[in-house]
Amino acid sequence: MKYFLDTANVDEIRRLNALGIVDGVTTNPTIISREGRDFETVIKEICTIVNGPVSAEVTGLTREEMIEEARNISKWADNVIIKIPMTEEGLAAVNVLSKENIKTNVTLIFTVSQGLSAIKAGATYISPFIGRLEDIGTDAYALIEDLRHIIDFYGYNAEIIAASIRGLPHVEGVAKRGAHIATIPDTVFAKLFSHPLTDQGIATFMKDWAAFKK
Ligand code: E4P
Repeated sequence: MKYFLDTANVDEIRRLNALGIVDGVTTNPTIISREGRDFETVIKEICTIVNGPVSAEVTGLTREEMIEEARNISKWADNVIIKIPMTEEGLAAVNVLSKENIKTNVTLIFTVSQGLSAIKAGATYISPFIGRLEDIGTDAYALIEDLRHIIDFYGYNAEIIAASIRGLPHVEGVAKRGAHIATIPDTVFAKLFSHPLTDQGIATFMKDWAAFKK
């Protein structure tokens, strides 16, 4: 399973990208707004740091607005992916964009039908939201399993980005259920490779080594 970083903070992206385990980045208008920087500048910078897909979301709500934004954003970098919300207008935009070979990530997916519809419209990626589904008491893992089964059964090329990840159990849960990608906030990402017993083990080894060297 690929790891994407779900942040627009370029310092965190640089730090974590140096580990060689970041396969891409996703953003949304909320994530971009936290940085207080110009949207285009931030996306272009992220695209130079990461050697993988970087999702940038449109903010228009009509198909015409989305298509126009997407055509513009797609010129910013070779690895930019256009994030489109899962609406009727969004599907119409994805249908047009896919025929222009503009890659899309259809976001805010909460049901199998929404996921399948996005795939059929031509989405490159679909983003089911794990945490937000669990917030309303819905089995988010079943959604991942079902979407993966459908993709494999019918031979679609779309990939599942498990989004709205809130902690390590979500990352491990979606990995076991066949998500192609998990997009992970930087706060959770650091936990992927750390454990208190690892730190404790290193401290003990260092203490014993220092005593032995005396
Ligand atoms: C990423 O593609 C999503 O926009 C993001 O994971 C949503 O996360 P949230 O539900 O924690 O806002």
